[in-house]
Amino acid sequence: MPPASVRRRQFLQGGTAAALATAFGLPGCASPQAEAAAFAAVPLSRADTLVVPDGYRTQVLYAWGDPVGSPAGMPPFRFDASNSAAEQALQAGMHHDGMEFYPLPYGSGGSTRGLLALNHEYHSDGLLFTDGAAHWSAAKAAKAMAASGVSVIEVELRDGAWQAVRPSRYARRITATTPCAVSGPAAGHALMRTAQDPSGRLVLGTFAGCAHGWTPWGTYLTCEENFQDRFVNAGPRSALQQRDLIPARSRAKWEVADERFDAANHPNEPNRFGWIVEIDPFEPASTPVKRTALGRCCHESATPSLAPDGRLVLYTGDDKAFEYIYKFVSRDKVDLVDRTRNGTLLDEGTLYVARFDADGTGVWLPLVHGQGALTAANGFHDQGDVLVRTRMAADAAGGTKMDRPEWIAVHPRTREVVVTLTNNMERGGKDKPGPDAANPRAGNAYGHLLRWREAGDDPAATSFRWSVLALAGDPAATDAAAKGSFTGDPFANPDGVRFDPSGRLWVMTDISPSRLNQGAFRAFGNNQLLMVDERGVFRRFLTGPVGCEITGLAFTPDGRTAFLNIQHPGEIGGEANDPAQPRKHSN
Ligand code: FEO
Ligand code: CA
Ligand code: CA
Ligand code: CA
Repeated sequence: MPPASVRRRQFLQGGTAAALATAFGLPGCASPQAEAAAFAAVPLSRADTLVVPDGYRTQVLYAWGDPVGSPAGMPPFRFDASNSAAEQALQAGMHHDGMEFYPLPYGSGGSTRGLLALNHEYHSDGLLFTDGAAHWSAAKAAKAMAASGVSVIEVELRDGAWQAVRPSRYARRITATTPCAVSGPAAGHALMRTAQDPSGRLVLGTFAGCAHGWTPWGTYLTCEENFQDRFVNAGPRSALQQRDLIPARSRAKWEVADERFDAANHPNEPNRFGWIVEIDPFEPASTPVKRTALGRCCHESATPSLAPDGRLVLYTGDDKAFEYIYKFVSRDKVDLVDRTRNGTLLDEGTLYVARFDADGTGVWLPLVHGQGALTAANGFHDQGDVLVRTRMAADAAGGTKMDRPEWIAVHPRTREVVVTLTNNMERGGKDKPGPDAANPRAGNAYGHLLRWREAGDDPAATSFRWSVLALAGDPAATDAAAKGSFTGDPFANPDGVRFDPSGRLWVMTDISPSRLNQGAFRAFGNNQLLMVDERGVFRRFLTGPVGCEITGLAFTPDGRTAFLNIQHPGEIGGEANDPAQPRKHSN
């Protein structure tokens, strides 16, 4: 009998395709909403398994360690953790998060063959190595770096089941050492130059990718989130490094393999992370590009919306307490005919930060050098400076400090926008901002969702009207603070949110393993996927195994298949064979 962790890897961890056996969301149905709403919500679960309603079935598609399927080699996963860093770099990385399905052939709109692009948010030493973080070495750091980054795999529906196509000309791993180009206003900026890269235009790697985005021309946007945890600065930290929360004690210990992660000696290296990175899944030899015009922070999602005049809008949140929501509006129009003509579309445009006013209106404040407070007199020297120091620019512009923005969803027809605010225990704390209209709870343990409509329903507008969609909680609770403000099944810590092709809203939760099923959080059970039905009722569709976060939801265009990531199942301990001890996790 293999150890629990091995069984867990085989059956639970990684990308799980929930193949929907009923005609769920089938285009042409008289009433797909009514059909989907007919599912019997699953009960709250504390079991170590995945549960979906009757009539639906699931299969594991791509688990950590599975060969990516590149022609360069397909090393098998070895259960004794003896895969080398080079082998790990040809296998699925760890802890899948934001994911997108791209039909093959490109532009076909098909739903039976395509590419899945997904990012690998972080790594667990306790699973990568038999002795965990003990006896740390450059080789261990190299393997951890190889377990980070992005995968592109080819998938196909054959005989009613999805499978990875191996080998595939598209299959690819991007890791913490893959060369990435830098474009946009901060490319080549003095704050982006390092000893290793005096040009400030070529960065090794992307990592800490969490939620994601996509473009109308079929590229994948990985959002670098908690990049700061790969760095260390044991000495005095600059104001920017303090704002970025660069730790004084090394967490990842990557500096053992590559000294650039020592931010005391390489102070600009952290500036080269915290970006949104564009990857073309259809061109496996293409270089990922860090698009600096989209700003730098702990990005969560880069959700597109197309303005009536053809400009592209991307919404993104900064998942840290009291950080901001942003949107980017491209200067030029998308070329929907020739995908190759959008190569610089994400380099020219305007980045805005959101201000939510108490009267239900809101304003997008431009983060443009020379405008408002973003002047040399206030320490902003050029647009590259504004973008590297996006958070400070947003402070100066007067954005609203939010309760940890995670995913942002855009309705496929109305262009209504929904954002999750996962929690913020510090709200109203000593020397911290108090509640405001858009973040109304002090000590916000459960999180909430907001929605807004842009003026004139034009995604490029500079003002909007917003409202609270739901304060999370348990509708059955007697304590008003724990009750929430919605109808349906209890949930907390919304993280992922996405509209399906027919316009139904889905919500994924990420209660930290340290709180999961502890104290008041017992009311929510394991993390879950909920659907918000046409009446606005939150209904539990799927529950994950113990310790996991539910994330990565993506759909085929026909709405028949949902792809989902079951991230960090069993992450209640640091060691592969001892999943018992709670530890802090807040990704
Ligand atoms: Fe990686 Fe903000 O979740
Ligand atoms: Ca997230
Ligand atoms: Ca996570
Ligand atoms: Ca989260």
